[in-house]
Amino acid sequence: MEEGLLPVLVKGEGVWLYDSEGKRYLDASGSWWVNLHGHGHPYINQKIKEQLDQLEHAIFSGFTHPQAVRLAGRLLNLTGVPKGKVFFSDNGSTAIEIALKLAWQYFVNQGISKKGFVALRGAYHGDTLGALAAGERDVFVRPFESLLAPVDYIEPPGPQTDWESLKSFLEEKKPAAFIYEPLVQGAAGMRMYEAQPLHRLLGLCRELNILCIADEVLTGFGRTGTLLASEQCGTPDVMALSKGLTGGYLPMGATLISEKIASEFYTENTQKMFYHGHSYTANPLACAAANASLDVLEQPEIQAHMQWLYASLASKAAEWNASDRLPKVRVKGNIFAFDLASNYKGYFYNNPARKKIYAWCIAHELLMRPLGSVVYIIPPYGIQPDELDFLLDRLKLLAQTWPLKAST
Ligand SMILES: Cc1ncc(COP(=O)(O)O)c(C=O)c1O
Repeated sequence: MEEGLLPVLVKGEGVWLYDSEGKRYLDASGSWWVNLHGHGHPYINQKIKEQLDQLEHAIFSGFTHPQAVRLAGRLLNLTGVPKGKVFFSDNGSTAIEIALKLAWQYFVNQGISKKGFVALRGAYHGDTLGALAAGERDVFVRPFESLLAPVDYIEPPGPQTDWESLKSFLEEKKPAAFIYEPLVQGAAGMRMYEAQPLHRLLGLCRELNILCIADEVLTGFGRTGTLLASEQCGTPDVMALSKGLTGGYLPMGATLISEKIASEFYTENTQKMFYHGHSYTANPLACAAANASLDVLEQPEIQAHMQWLYASLASKAAEWNASDRLPKVRVKGNIFAFDLASNYKGYFYNNPARKKIYAWCIAHELLMRPLGSVVYIIPPYGIQPDELDFLLDRLKLLAQTWPLKAST
């Protein structure tokens, strides 16, 4: 490979990706957290091919199709709001844009005055302008700051939360909605927080007529040990799904809303309708992939395998945490993360350690993009015991190679 040229990926099989020179890489974070079951899954491939022979795409306005109807029903059952509605779109950021717009207009339609949104410090919700506004105002966001919707930030809730002050803050700010990544803030460096205080915060929001928007773009479909992270911390009013929705096959987003919110938009009043649409809304191939991925997830042997994966990662984390020669690990479901020592004082993501760790991983057959000096894995559920051993042994080698005291 000539220096400066990117490896060209030509094949994927299970957890492995292969480049044009025959090198292999274990896809340790499921290609940016999208891949659920492994690459080239025979059942999902088959279901997409069957759909391709029926209908590749058609307008989703004034018409529907069987794959979308089936998928919407299944998603609503999963979230426990069977009478709610699903709004399909193309990716995680559009699912969030729709969530924010629906939450905002829900109050506009009722003539209730609200002031922006509340989000968590360190949040990441996507790269379009609405989603950017709800994210942490870091170096990625700063050039666009003057264009963004007003958002106030609070710390993720925990034992340190002063509930009285938080309540006064929310009463004063009067946001339309509180948006949060439940249990794990991915792009912030796989920061983890507990379900119980989040549950309490959702209750406080309800009391103050603030809608709760769960961004389950990363956490959805089993990543935190339950099918949805919201099962652990409480049902939101609005939920955004994407990434694992199609098993990692095709771009798709879905925004789910409760019946209470949906009812504000079913009207003949043209001022109150929700004007939002995308050309490829509910693309039948993407819906077929999503239905096939859910079929796989529902299989008892796959669920047993996922439980094995969660337990294996938890026991490996306990082993590392008992050693003073290895970094401390945090783990939830199939997200396993740790920080390598670093003296870097700038914005965490720009830590030069990131490039060194990435290069080390590539040289050791792992595809994993660290977040600054944070190393993490979110392997596809199809990973086999010998592959998991390979992955965890390599991570251990990386941790042992990296000086325990910071030098970078
Ligand atoms: C929690 C969360 N929300 C939203 C997004 C945006 O998704 P997409 O990259 O599909 O626009 C991401 C992407 O990483 C994410 O992690």
